[in-house]
Amino acid sequence: MALHEIVLMGDPVLRENAEEVTVFDEELEALVRDMFETMYHADGIGLAAPQIGLSKRIIVVDLRVPEEEEPIRIAVVNPEVTWESKEAEKESEGCLSIPGLEEVVKRPISVRVEGRDPRGNALEVEADGLFARALQHEIDHVNGILFLDRVSPLKRKMLLKKWKKLRAEDEYGGERLVRILFWGTPDFAVPSLRALDDEGFEIVGVVTQPDRPAGRGRKLTPSPVKEVALQAGFPVLTPDRPRGDDFADSIRALEPDISVVVAYGHILRPEILEIPPMGSINVHASLLPELRGAAPINWAIARRHEVTGVTIMRMAEAMDAGAIIHRVEEPILPDETAGELTLRLSELGAQALVEGLALLAAGAAEEVGQEHDAATFAPKIDRETARVDWVRAAADVAAHVRAMDPVPGAWSRLDDAPVKLFRPAVWTAEELESLRAQGLPTNGGPKVARGDSPPGMVVAATADDGVVVATGEGGVSFAEVQPPGKRRMDAADWINGRGVDPGQRFD
Ligand code: NI
Repeated sequence: MALHEIVLMGDPVLRENAEEVTVFDEELEALVRDMFETMYHADGIGLAAPQIGLSKRIIVVDLRVPEEEEPIRIAVVNPEVTWESKEAEKESEGCLSIPGLEEVVKRPISVRVEGRDPRGNALEVEADGLFARALQHEIDHVNGILFLDRVSPLKRKMLLKKWKKLRAEDEYGGERLVRILFWGTPDFAVPSLRALDDEGFEIVGVVTQPDRPAGRGRKLTPSPVKEVALQAGFPVLTPDRPRGDDFADSIRALEPDISVVVAYGHILRPEILEIPPMGSINVHASLLPELRGAAPINWAIARRHEVTGVTIMRMAEAMDAGAIIHRVEEPILPDETAGELTLRLSELGAQALVEGLALLAAGAAEEVGQEHDAATFAPKIDRETARVDWVRAAADVAAHVRAMDPVPGAWSRLDDAPVKLFRPAVWTAEELESLRAQGLPTNGGPKVARGDSPPGMVVAATADDGVVVATGEGGVSFAEVQPPGKRRMDAADWINGRGVDPGQRFD
């Protein structure tokens, strides 16, 4: 038998959806024995395999109830809660992976758990009270959830503070936390900053762009990252330009171990990148060396890629050309807009960042140079890039429109006024033809254009189909539009308001 080391919060294995066990053999039985042993040694009543660094769906529980009662000692492989009582209760919980912290957590009083025993036999348990609570806590572990995720945000914040303090003390290993200087500006960077804070890294400062005028009143508005940083009480720096001796000194004074840069918005010079002893790393929203540059998410959609992802890389002088520390792939969903994909990749990036930093801190990161010959580029999107080219095939036009949604918004001129177009759907040439054949005479006049439809021509405008526009090959309909000087609206409202008629042409 062997005791295993229990991993602590901050280790990415605790955040994974652990892997299903498929092989039931002696090795598995030995592992389960080791888990019990490790749990007893640590004086716990439950343990899940991720807590000993293994991404496997295995839990053990031993309540060690007084002798007169039936002892409760159980190992469940691939456990699942298949029923829970509506009635819940609040009780204090702790966790071997977050030693020193306890907090009240609300959970169902009774549950039914199904799974397998270590020999592979089907298993079903009904549990109440502490037994039910222990099972739920451990099943959370194999799903990447910690009990801290189940307390109120305010309590969670206080507990995390306490946790960081405890970890620095000898009793808990006297481990010095990695001191991070965080650089970031837009919403995309916020999940990364939060994740670093949540996973027990020490944020020694946050560098972000200065407040900018925004909204109708052009009021000076802090960046999304600055707002979060101020709430969390981190020191915030907002230089106009991140350079010069004074600025470098203010960075040095924070004594960072490493700089983490997530969509900061300025290029950093080598003398700034080199200040922290562990250097500087970056979260980039593509699978480098593909899509280097400012707008990787927009271009991944516009170019109709099916897969993209995030890369954690070492920052080098050349843009997005540094060594790769960690890379995670992610499919692009059909009909996904840049805004939607940005949201997903910001969460994925945060997770990958924590994993990359854990690898670096453990000295286990393999840094691999990029294949520069394979690099592609994703330049900044401007107003001219966002304009629709109707000569292209319908699927390309639709991808372009999704790639520009919500900002800056794909647009085209109608009667010399720019109209933004959103929520596209592709029509094949045949579908377009059958739509034309319907003719659709209505009281409001013809809703379908007669005759030939050159690219850009509005073929139909109906509440059901939206605005249907001919392209170089097939057509594209739009369910939402933004006419000049108006808000984004349903295409049906625009059509009803006589904003557009068949036979008009976008150019
Ligand atoms: Ni636990």
